[in-house]
Amino acid sequence: MAERAKSPHPSSRSKKPAVDSPEDLRAILAKEVVGQSAATDAIVPYVQMFQSDLAPAGRPVGVFLLLGPTGTGKTRTVEVLAEALHGSAKNLLKVDCGEFQMEHEVAKLVGAPPGYLGHRETQPMLSQQKLNAATSEHSALSVVLFDEIEKAAPSMTRLLLGVLDKATLRLGDNTTVNFENSVVFLTSNLGAREMMKELVPEFGFQAGAPAARGDMRGKLQRVGLAAVRRRFSPEFVNRIDCVITYQPLDAGSLSLILDQQIAGLQRHVNTRLGARCFAIEVSEESRSFLLRNGASARYGARELNRTIHRHLTQPLAAMVAVGRIEPGAGVRAELARDGESLDLQILGSAAARSLPPMVLIADDNEQLLAFLNTLMAAEGWTVLLADSASKAKQLAAEKSFDCALLDNLLPDGSGVSLGAHLRRVRSDVPIMIMSGRISEQEEQACLSMGFPLVQKPFDPRDLICKIRRWIGTRLLAA
Ligand SMILES: Nc1ncnc2c1ncn2[C@@H]1O[C@H](COP(=O)(O)OP(=O)(O)OP(=O)(O)O)[C@@H](O)[C@H]1O
Ligand SMILES: [Mg+2]
Repeated sequence: MAERAKSPHPSSRSKKPAVDSPEDLRAILAKEVVGQSAATDAIVPYVQMFQSDLAPAGRPVGVFLLLGPTGTGKTRTVEVLAEALHGSAKNLLKVDCGEFQMEHEVAKLVGAPPGYLGHRETQPMLSQQKLNAATSEHSALSVVLFDEIEKAAPSMTRLLLGVLDKATLRLGDNTTVNFENSVVFLTSNLGAREMMKELVPEFGFQAGAPAARGDMRGKLQRVGLAAVRRRFSPEFVNRIDCVITYQPLDAGSLSLILDQQIAGLQRHVNTRLGARCFAIEVSEESRSFLLRNGASARYGARELNRTIHRHLTQPLAAMVAVGRIEPGAGVRAELARDGESLDLQILGSAAARSLPPMVLIADDNEQLLAFLNTLMAAEGWTVLLADSASKAKQLAAEKSFDCALLDNLLPDGSGVSLGAHLRRVRSDVPIMIMSGRISEQEEQACLSMGFPLVQKPFDPRDLICKIRRWIGTRLLAA
């Protein structure tokens, strides 16, 4: 195999990745981009080739063309990959091809040649510096996105051809940009209109029978590819490694996306409001309402996002703005009587505030213990700290506590079996298991004993809100 040209980050592959293994990357992509397993299956092996230093020289690590209906996760895939590789979705070099529809606009991309008026002022959008800025301490693989390529002017398509073919782009000042350490994504709505025609009879909330959906997958792929071949030259199409056609989202996928959006909203409330945060609960009827109103053949998950925004985010924001939600309260969304909107009810704030909780934490990670201790002490809570299962058992025998947070990997046993012990001692106390990795058997045990699992790493503020909510509900119920 030819040796790869000198990388701008020679020690790239030995860097500590933001995700630990290709399996983790696969799991993150599959979880965050719902219902598009073809995309995950296609992308992960290319990243793996880069990480193992086996990607061929003289071309980008991978070139992907993402096709399919709007709002099905094309752009999200690229953002999730950037976040998984680098820890932030901002580590992404994105070129909006809609901004380069006219020939003269392409100069913005590569900078004007010397001698042209103002060439020093035209900073190229695609410089080596910008490409390097999209990498991170975790990975030297830059993620590059050319969004809506069908809108690009012909001269931009020619420039792109060089990037896809040789992994180089010559700038106006005659320097070159090296894309050998990049994965390049092209997204396009080509064929989307024809795809809609195929989809409308069976698309929507009632997903088609599995066989019909299987047929549809192939049909959409053919429609998309035919449209791409009509628009781009065979040389261009030949340089694409994978064409991935995104599938319309069925009811199950939309339901998972709704859960993600609600969890995202909760995270947003926690980070933006800090100590003033509150817990959001959405009843089953309200979920069904949001799904009914947010399912759209035409706009995919975008319509679901809009529906959540209109019926949940905006009314919540209005309540926060006038100070109706007290810190530590819960807000529960119920379907209104008219069935046309959601009714937001405030729960539990007084109870939650009247009694600062006592929290038992078992973890042998001293830093985490200290951090949680500081955070909870700032809330006025009392924390019982144990660095082993035996210490936790001893504390539980001596003191009363309102909830327990247990790391699953303790030096002298598992958090799950410690939880089972504590449950026998104090049957009324909520118990949560914190874990990085957990076996299937232990997961089952958590399920059957009603121990929620908190995946590490987690946002501690999320945790604090959850605890407040638990304790508030319990006191109200008492
Ligand atoms: N498969 C999916 N999994 C999770 N969320 C999704 C998915 N598809 C869409 N979404 C949600 O909808 C939003 C819009 O999706 P995205 O921007 O990826 O659409 P797109 O396929 O790129 O559409 P377009 O062709 O209009 O650019 C995302 O930010 C995300 O919140
Ligand atoms: Mg998009």
